[in-house]
Amino acid sequence: MPPDVHIHATEAEASRAAADYFLRRLAAKPDLVLGLPTGRTPRELYRELVRRHRAGQADFGRVKTFNIDEYCGLGATDAGSFRRFMREEFFDHVNVPAENIHFPRAVADDAVEDSRLYEESIAAAGGIDLMILGVGIDGHLGFNMPGSPLDSRTRLVQINEATRAENRSFFPPGSEVPTHAVTMGLGTLMDSRSCMVLAFGARKAPVLAGALQGPVTADLPASLVQQHPDTVVFLDRAAAAELRRRDTRSRTAGMAQPFST
Ligand code: GLP
Repeated sequence: MPPDVHIHATEAEASRAAADYFLRRLAAKPDLVLGLPTGRTPRELYRELVRRHRAGQADFGRVKTFNIDEYCGLGATDAGSFRRFMREEFFDHVNVPAENIHFPRAVADDAVEDSRLYEESIAAAGGIDLMILGVGIDGHLGFNMPGSPLDSRTRLVQINEATRAENRSFFPPGSEVPTHAVTMGLGTLMDSRSCMVLAFGARKAPVLAGALQGPVTADLPASLVQQHPDTVVFLDRAAAAELRRRDTRSRTAGMAQPFST
């Protein structure tokens, strides 16, 4: 099944549509097992889910979460750490039980064992029902940089300089962006029963065109979503600008401009 692509006028509209989709999934399975991303892309989705939770429309009390990645060498409360990001953007404002929240431990010396345990804990939770993904400017997923093996599992990786530069704004001035992280592998991401991919802004347009309509290749990890059996993509118009339109039939009632890739 090619990804089901939904294009909305703005990031805010696309994030609201993504929240609607998410809540339908949560209503169907209140004990949803989630794979969660960090970065700028999911922020508006998290805000929207927090709003819906406060409005009594979203109960996360039975949800389990597995974050996709974490930097090595940062404490849970350190600025820039994904644990802190997730608390500030999401977990502090909703009711996911603390014991249901999982991150890779990301201790470089222990990474092999840590990674094995992370894969085991995902399996013990029954596997991931819904993997939410942002896309790096070079097509990376999590911290699976171009060239990552398509069947890779959770592991220690080196973060390339371009990505460290991209992520510098999440760190206090003068502090260094870590050089390593533990990330779910591309195989781990693609094992999820369903995926929801988000991308916004003109800078992401070339990579989205390649990912959704180019060849599936390790050079562009996001292209792997074409092989995933159940992927929904939410884009704003800017991120969708370089997609070739092949089919303008509306495939999902009530969604703006869905089309198949
Ligand atoms: C980061 C993260 C990814 C994220 C991507 C895009 O390096 N490890 O999980 O999806 O880059 O980031 P952004 O959403 O800020 O564009």
